[in-house]
Amino acid sequence: MPIEILQTHKLVDTCEAALATRFTVHKLHEAADKSALLTSYGPDIRAIAGRGVSAELMGKLPNLEIIANFGVGYDATDIAAARAAGIRVTNTPDVLNNAVAELTIGLMIGLSRRIPQADQFVRAGKWPSAGMGLFSELTGKTVGILGLGRIGKEIASRAQAMKMRVVYYGRKRQPAEPHIFYDNLVDMARDSDWLVVIAPGGKGTNGIVSREVLEALGPNGNIVNVARGTLIDEAAMLDLLQSGGLGGAALDVFEKEPAVPEAFFALDNVVLSPHQGSATNQTRNAMGALVVANLDAHFAGEPLISAVV
Ligand code: 8YV
Repeated sequence: MPIEILQTHKLVDTCEAALATRFTVHKLHEAADKSALLTSYGPDIRAIAGRGVSAELMGKLPNLEIIANFGVGYDATDIAAARAAGIRVTNTPDVLNNAVAELTIGLMIGLSRRIPQADQFVRAGKWPSAGMGLFSELTGKTVGILGLGRIGKEIASRAQAMKMRVVYYGRKRQPAEPHIFYDNLVDMARDSDWLVVIAPGGKGTNGIVSREVLEALGPNGNIVNVARGTLIDEAAMLDLLQSGGLGGAALDVFEKEPAVPEAFFALDNVVLSPHQGSATNQTRNAMGALVVANLDAHFAGEPLISAVV
């Protein structure tokens, strides 16, 4: 009897192909009548491949054993409910570190040199009649990293290659790291030219980048968010970007994405990106392979490769 699994979202083709060779896959995101699919197949489902699994969905799958989350961040899945029901959860750490770190540096240069705006300037035929202006560079600046985890460390080493000084804030000092540690985020923001947000989403970090933090970063400071929109007080950030209280923002994630407050579109001091941190073929294929490898390990009775629960 083939093992039946539920897929909750579109996944990269290589991952879908690998799942199809191993399992009978029910695609919830493609079902015209989702509740009919769950009523018919719910009791047969032993695994989920995807993300964002609610307690309600878990409740409809009485024989669910494992959720293989496509993504390192699993804040959209109800981990407490999974734990309580004895459902295992895996994620996709490490394989996306480089892609996210590369995008971060790209966003920083893009914002500091206004690269998207420069592209628009040339396309609009404005160059012959005026220069675009002078901007700032990363060299010699201090970047404060909120969350010096696996991805944060990759960002740190690339920032050093940009001749920046790196400092960090997190739950605890990491004695093996050479950078200065702050135990107060406002203090770090005050001392930094750039604030890079790369900590996990979820209750523990909700709104951690408050108005006070943003004001400490100040009119010459720039913020980059490649983590989750929930970490920043988005309304306060917008307000400060509009008033000049905050220098600039490069944002790959938003509080209610894919909805982005339209007020951002009118601002010249922002660079916007549609949650592209891990969005390369190389990385998405590796993430998909890790989803499959965790499911293989589970059903073979072997240790999970990247267990969260
Ligand atoms: C998304 C991410 O998972 O890994 C994460 O936590 O935010 C991303 O890699 C990915 O965009 C899902 O399609």
